[in-house]
Amino acid sequence: MRDYLSSPQTPSTKLGDNAPPVLTVRDLSLWYGEKQALKEVSFELYPREVMAFIGPSGCGKSTALKCLNRMHDETRGVRIEGQIYMHDRNIYDPEIDPPVYRRHFGWVAQKPNPFPKSIYENVAYGARIHGLTRTRADMDAHVERCLRRAHLWEEVKDGLHSKDGTDLSGGQQQRLCIARALATEPDVMLMDEPTGSIDPIATAKVEDLMMSLREDLSVVVITHSMMEARRVADRVAYFHMGELLECGPVGQVFDHPRHQQTRAFISGRTG
Ligand SMILES: Nc1ncnc2c1ncn2[C@@H]1O[C@H](COP(=O)(O)OP(=O)(O)OP(=O)(O)O)[C@@H](O)[C@H]1O
Ligand SMILES: [Mg+2]
Repeated sequence: MRDYLSSPQTPSTKLGDNAPPVLTVRDLSLWYGEKQALKEVSFELYPREVMAFIGPSGCGKSTALKCLNRMHDETRGVRIEGQIYMHDRNIYDPEIDPPVYRRHFGWVAQKPNPFPKSIYENVAYGARIHGLTRTRADMDAHVERCLRRAHLWEEVKDGLHSKDGTDLSGGQQQRLCIARALATEPDVMLMDEPTGSIDPIATAKVEDLMMSLREDLSVVVITHSMMEARRVADRVAYFHMGELLECGPVGQVFDHPRHQQTRAFISGRTG
């Protein structure tokens, strides 16, 4: 199936360059059966930015993240209203093939979940499925590139085939999962609390990595740590009971929140 969603040829677009959004979300509502989990959520995601979703537990952050790569498609009882556009194309256009669409996204979960296979195979898998490399040498170079981008190469280069992904430490496993997600050459990295189950030193490495990903892709990261949101994000979206209450540059939302609920959450009085 043709890929209708390839990024337009916009060289060197950066936040502030008036680059058009990668994703535009308009009045997005979602129901799990009778229960409404998202209420008319609207925002844009720009090229080369890190956007953090913050807010109390159960307020719809993960639900919103999963809408972006159509992860709810297979969940029974889910109803979605509203629009999501990627590069001006409606992502629910019948011409769009969901697996091809999802290739534009990497997904990183809270708990590192490498395959019980070699480090090399963990990274090679996605590239092989999508036919991104032709020869063994191409694949070797691709695997190395992804592991370097995930700041993991130096630590694993001597055990690519002899060690399994599951043999690594928790923090290394998470960076391996990021390398695996990079292997399909996504435009957008979706991360649901990627530092939620790793130690502080591993967290610092993953945060550095998130910021470096911004050089050529967009990142949406859910975090319960306000310190982390401040460190890594360009913009912050505050979710409250299914609504996106406010969204703006990190300094503005943290230092001059427009809503009393945002202020209460950020200052630790709620959540
Ligand atoms: N598969 C599901 N079926 C039914 N209800 C669900 C499902 N997934 C989430 N919900 C409900 O939708 C609401 C939003 O959940 P969601 O997981 O998006 O919140 P969240 O902001 O990510 O919370 P947390 O910070 O705890 O991860 C919650 O009330 C949750 O119970
Ligand atoms: Mg969640």
